[in-house]
Amino acid sequence: MASTSKSRELIWSARPLDPHSFSQPEKIFVHHVDLEIKVGFERRVLDGTATLHLFRNPEYPDAPLILDTRDLSIQSIEAATDHESFERVRHEFGSADPILGTPLRVHLPRNATSVRISYSTSPNATALQWLDAEQTAGKKAPFLFTQSQEIHARSWIPLQDTPGVRITYSATIETPTDLLAVMSDCRRVSVSRQGSYRFDMTYPIPPYLIALAVGDIDFAPTGPRTGVYAEPPLLEAARYEFAEADRMLQAAERLYGTYLWGRFDVLVLPPSFPFGGMENPGVAFVTPTLIAGDRSSVSVIAHELAHAWSGNLVTNATWSDFWLNEGFTTYTERRIQEELYGSSRANMEEVLAEERLANEMKNLPPEDQLLHPDLEGRNPETTLVPYVKGALFLKTLENTFGRDLFDAYLRSYFEHFAFKSITTAEAIDYLKTTLLDNHPHLSAKIPLEEWLCAPGLPASAPKAVSPVLMEIRKLAHAWSADQISTDDLWAQDWNTQQKLHFLDSLPPDVGFAKMHELDQRFQVTESVNAEILYRWLLLAVRNKYEPAYSRLERFLTTVGRIIYVKPLYEELAKTEPGKAFAEAIYSRARPSYHPLTQAIVDKILVP
Ligand code: BES
Ligand code: ZN
Repeated sequence: MASTSKSRELIWSARPLDPHSFSQPEKIFVHHVDLEIKVGFERRVLDGTATLHLFRNPEYPDAPLILDTRDLSIQSIEAATDHESFERVRHEFGSADPILGTPLRVHLPRNATSVRISYSTSPNATALQWLDAEQTAGKKAPFLFTQSQEIHARSWIPLQDTPGVRITYSATIETPTDLLAVMSDCRRVSVSRQGSYRFDMTYPIPPYLIALAVGDIDFAPTGPRTGVYAEPPLLEAARYEFAEADRMLQAAERLYGTYLWGRFDVLVLPPSFPFGGMENPGVAFVTPTLIAGDRSSVSVIAHELAHAWSGNLVTNATWSDFWLNEGFTTYTERRIQEELYGSSRANMEEVLAEERLANEMKNLPPEDQLLHPDLEGRNPETTLVPYVKGALFLKTLENTFGRDLFDAYLRSYFEHFAFKSITTAEAIDYLKTTLLDNHPHLSAKIPLEEWLCAPGLPASAPKAVSPVLMEIRKLAHAWSADQISTDDLWAQDWNTQQKLHFLDSLPPDVGFAKMHELDQRFQVTESVNAEILYRWLLLAVRNKYEPAYSRLERFLTTVGRIIYVKPLYEELAKTEPGKAFAEAIYSRARPSYHPLTQAIVDKILVP
């Protein structure tokens, strides 16, 4: 257990209140959780106990322990003053909040050292997706995975669910004997199936990084410290697609120093996984849509790897500080790309991201364009602002101070704040004292206030330039204006980024005839690349290109990744016939979507 007196001091020092947690860690601090969980596929529940180990701040001798929960049923709560002899204690639920869940108040003896909670999850737990065998690649066994970020850990573990608190965990997971359990504890369990698995995460992490997956999962190495977990039918493809993980790890270490988390494995989830990737420590969870066959989507792997430093080692203290996770990570993702594939490819990805940000910002209210938004009373839904604006801010610093100075600053930042959860104010304070204040002339060029407190981007924000993509844009315009023929396009040597930019550069109303031409020539509708397909299907809806509708239906009934599914349903819902089509698809697709995806599509289609 990594609970030193040093971390105790930090705990009691003034912390900003996290508006997304009921817990009061400044009074009682939970530093370790031991889970004993039985995975019940038939009833879709987890049953078991969570034993929380705690410190009490002596200034609050009578404060109750307040935990975050959502839809948990509690069978009993006991406390011990010696970690051993447990006795029943009183508890009660507070009133439920639609976003935050329900606070659980536990009355403890003053000298309690641990609390044991027997509980079960609800079949609708927001962190859990239970899949029937038919919804998996192998179709033989059911599958379960968790997704705790941002505020969903509370739906499967009663704890202080705020990234401002760091805990270690251990777990015993009981599963059907033919399935493998994987957790985010940075070690590779033996792949022999025993029906009972023991995990031990000895580094203190924010609760949103506790993760579990159970299914017919196999493992294949891609390097000494890297490998892939996937269902057997996907294992070979995954091993090929993510084979560069080891080189990425080495590139990241050249930037920031030794990787502290032991292993960096990738777990390929079923296609309903709502995100591209999730940086669970030691084992990144990813969507199978990354498996394009040509390694064109591996920037997501670089991204999740970069989180080992920004996010997992140095963590946002609240969800308003999310850019400390995602902005730093997006910046590092580009640096890793540049190392592996050169700056031309990195520039292309940057151009694509900046354009997506500009488009998104057109429809965002000013307060949502801030790097440090006020999220109180709101669901912390994510936009590209913390990602791309955050990365651009760091790039501004890099451009201003030069790589040598800036890289040294980044290394010292990760060392200084290692295993801490920090606020934007703390990060900026450190930036000032270690970099800005030492170089006043250079610092004067940076509109710091504007970066941190104004909507949009400062006029001086760097703009990525990709000559390759500029050429593509010209072609897209010339082709859609009938100035060049279809044969002059989409040449075999266009890479995926070029194709994406071509589609992004077409006028939204390019028209049926043009789409038909492109499709005839290049079979875009049959593309296996999810990024290409998503953009194409969006154009298909906008232009009523019916030859792609059955592909659209197939896509929406198999893939549940939110960044694809949400815009497609939104676009369909804009017309009456489109909405009817969307409703018909959704009635079949909904049962296989993740609870988070369901909630989003419900809002679009259910009045
Ligand atoms: N941590 C995020 C995923 C996330 C964000 C989960 C917010 C829950 C709430 C992850 O690192 C991420 O950013 N994934 C991206 C891919 C990335 C390359 C932009 C995604 O899922 O699309
Ligand atoms: Zn991320």
